[in-house]
Amino acid sequence: MRALVAGMVGEPADVLRLESRPVPTPEAGQALIRVKATPIHASDLHVLRGRYGFSPEFPTVGGHMECVGRIEAVGPDTAVGPDTEGLKVGERVVAVAVPAIPGPPVAGTWQEYLVTDTRRLLPVPDQLSDSSACQLAVNPLTALLLVTRELDVQPGEWLLQTAAGSTVGRLVIQLARHLGIRTINVVRRRAAVEEIKELGGDEVICTEDEDLVQRVAEIAGADGVSKATDCVAGEVGAQVSRALAPGGEVVVYGALSTHRQTEPAALTIPLQARSVIYEAKAVRGFWLNRWFGTASPADALSALSEVRSLVADDVLSIPQGQPFPLERFTEAVAFAEAPAHGTKPLFVFEDGRDDDNR
Ligand SMILES: NC(=O)c1ccc[n+]([C@@H]2O[C@H](COP(=O)([O-])OP(=O)(O)OC[C@H]3O[C@@H](n4cnc5c(N)ncnc54)[C@H](OP(=O)(O)O)[C@@H]3O)[C@@H](O)[C@H]2O)c1
Repeated sequence: MRALVAGMVGEPADVLRLESRPVPTPEAGQALIRVKATPIHASDLHVLRGRYGFSPEFPTVGGHMECVGRIEAVGPDTAVGPDTEGLKVGERVVAVAVPAIPGPPVAGTWQEYLVTDTRRLLPVPDQLSDSSACQLAVNPLTALLLVTRELDVQPGEWLLQTAAGSTVGRLVIQLARHLGIRTINVVRRRAAVEEIKELGGDEVICTEDEDLVQRVAEIAGADGVSKATDCVAGEVGAQVSRALAPGGEVVVYGALSTHRQTEPAALTIPLQARSVIYEAKAVRGFWLNRWFGTASPADALSALSEVRSLVADDVLSIPQGQPFPLERFTEAVAFAEAPAHGTKPLFVFEDGRDDDNR
C-alpha cells in the first residue's frame, strides 16, 4: 500500500516521501481501515515541522487528525455489533486520530490502510459525503466546543471572531445563527466580506481598511462585546482583547499571524496590563487535543455525536474539500498554505471511492 512518510522533522515538501508499505494487521480491540479521504490541516504541517503541541516518533506517516474510510477487518475477539454502536466490517467510519484520546494512538492517516483502536471510530450516516465526513472530528467539533462549552455564548449575545473565512470561522457563523447568537466577524481581505455576510455573519470587519477596535465599539454600543475567539494572535489578537468590554474573555486557538510559527513577535499577543488588571479581561487558550485528553470518553463521544448530527441535518455545512491523489502531495501542501485557498485539500484514494459518497 502507499503511505506518505516523513523521515525527519522539516519542511513537509522536503521530508515527505511516498513509500510502499505492507498492509498492517489489526490486533485485539483494533480495526483495519481502508482510508477513503483525509484532510491536510495546518496542524498536520506543524507536526511535521516539529512546532506542534506533540511530536510523534519519526519516521512517521503524515496526517495526525482525522480520516474517513471503511472497516476492512477487525482483530481477534474484537467487539463489533451493538456494543460498539453497530460497527461492522464494510461500515463507513470516521477515525479520530488525535493522540490524546485514550487507547493506543492511531497511525498517520495519509496512507491507504491504517489500524486503529475501535474506540476511535464513529459510524457515518449515508447522507454525509466523504469530504464532510473526513473533516468532521476537528473543525466542526472545535466550533461547537468554542461556542457552546468554552464561552457558553447565549442567544442574543455577541460573539467576536477572527479569521471568519476559515473553515472553523464559517462553522461558527452557521452554529451561531442556529443558536440565535450574533456574530462580529473579522477578515483580512475585502473580497471575503460579501461571502461572510451571505453565510449569515451579522457584522463583518475587514482589517485591510478598517479599525477593529473602533468598529466593534460602533457595532456593539455601550454594552460592548464580552466573548471572543481568535486564531490569528499577534497584533490582531491584542486588538480583539482591546475591543472587549470589561470582564470580557477571548479564547485563542490558533496563531495564523505567523502561520509557520517562525516569527516570535507575531507569536506574541501584546496585552495591556492595565486592562488585564483593572478591567479583568482574560485571554485563555483552547486546544482540541488537550480537550480530548481531559474530557471523559462519554463527553467526547457525546460531543462528536452532536457534531455529526448538526452536519447530517445541514445545520453545519463543511466546505467541500479539494481532492488530491497522494502522489501530488507537494502541490497539496502548497495549496493548504496558499493565501485565499478557500477550501481544504484532501488526499483521496481512488480504490476506496464509492459513487454514492462523493
Ligand atoms: N486549537 C485547536 O484545537 C484548533 C482546532 C482546529 C483549528 N485550529 C486552528 O484554527 C485555525 C483555522 O483553521 P482552519 O482549518 O479553519 O483554517 P483554513 O480553513 O485553512 O482557513 C485559514 C483562514 O485563515 C485566514 N488567515 C490566514 N492567515 C491569516 C492572517 N495572518 N490573518 C488573518 N487571517 C488569516 C485565511 O484567510 P484568507 O482567505 O484571506 O487566506 C483563511 O480564511 C488554524 O490556525 C488552525 O490551526 C485550532
